[in-house]
Amino acid sequence: NGDLLLKNINAQAPFPISFADLEKAVAEKMDAGPYGYVRSGAGGEQTLRNNRAAFEKYSIIPRFLNNVSNIDTSIELFGKTYPTPLLFAPVGMNKMAHEDGELAVVRAADDLEIPYIQSTVSSYALEDVAQAAPHATKWFQLYWSTNEEIAYSMASRAEAAGFEAIVLTVDTVMLGWREEDVRNQFSPLKLGYARGNYVNDPVFMASLPDDSFESYVQGVLQNVFHPTLNWENVRELKRRTTLPILLKGILHPEDSKLAVGNGIDGIIVSNHGGRQLDGVVGSLDALPAIVDVVNGQIPVILDSGVYRGMDALKALALGADAVAIGRPFVYGLALAGQQGVEKVMTNLYDELKVSMALAGATSVKALRNVTLVKNNGVD
Ligand code: FNR
Repeated sequence: NGDLLLKNINAQAPFPISFADLEKAVAEKMDAGPYGYVRSGAGGEQTLRNNRAAFEKYSIIPRFLNNVSNIDTSIELFGKTYPTPLLFAPVGMNKMAHEDGELAVVRAADDLEIPYIQSTVSSYALEDVAQAAPHATKWFQLYWSTNEEIAYSMASRAEAAGFEAIVLTVDTVMLGWREEDVRNQFSPLKLGYARGNYVNDPVFMASLPDDSFESYVQGVLQNVFHPTLNWENVRELKRRTTLPILLKGILHPEDSKLAVGNGIDGIIVSNHGGRQLDGVVGSLDALPAIVDVVNGQIPVILDSGVYRGMDALKALALGADAVAIGRPFVYGLALAGQQGVEKVMTNLYDELKVSMALAGATSVKALRNVTLVKNNGVD
């Protein structure tokens, strides 16, 4: 309550406050290759622009005189309560941004009580991440594998290490057409940034002809992209784990219907931050139809383009149960490690809280009743 901005104004060293400020600071700090990898979208970056345009299209009509002295931003997911409706989206290869990589992010997640989703292609092994923050809520993002036994092995390691859900990413059966990386001649895999979970996986290692670096790179390339992925794999994964399973990357209402029908426990509406298929609908524009179909049966989380608290508010108002944050936290990590991650997430959260109060909504549930108009109400 009060002036949530004041702590930024009194800060000794000013920290970038908007996404644009963050991106600018990171562009100056990181090398072109890794910076381009994080920032860019696939193809001509239409999807990247669509994500932002979708948020900018909505305006709200606030309500007043509603006593907003107590704002409850908490949510419940899979039987646990969290103080904020934010999550860390799974982002691979965090050593690209900072030496502490995923360890810094999971420690921030622990401090802020924000669920952390660890990527399959992380720099640190999931067991090391679990050890760095045993009390944080951790979910494991699974990339299916051409060799299915590797996928099952990763999922069961995650379960054994105390991860509480499996997030199966469905939009990355092949890598997107990423021109910035070609321009920069940049391959994070070849630099060894994605080793954490692979070199610690007995099934993966046993599948390699030898333990040279080149074999590891080839092994990951042959396994991480998995064009055969289908609903039968999802059902088999469900049989093999007791953890809730979320599908990440769902954009079509029919796929969300199939997810519910196949006993899936949650959906992440996402276009991978515009990094996979270019020309895809902004994720926020895909949300309402999915919320309609799912009709409260399982949680619906949204990511892609949530860059400020007001974006989170709009997604929650349109029916998301929570939002996941990608690039903003990576930029915080690149600038100042764990502290930078905490700063970025806290600013997002503070802006959300101020915005809820100013909109006249005292809880996440109440946000569903906020009046939203598209294109300023002009059709
Ligand atoms: C990602 N994302 C991602 N998703 C996933 O399921 N597994 C992964 O390993 C990665 N890796 C990854 C690396 C980088 C550098 C970025 C920027 C993103 C996608 C991520 O989970 C999320 O969908 C998007 O980042 C959300 O969009 P914003 O918030 O970045 O716009």
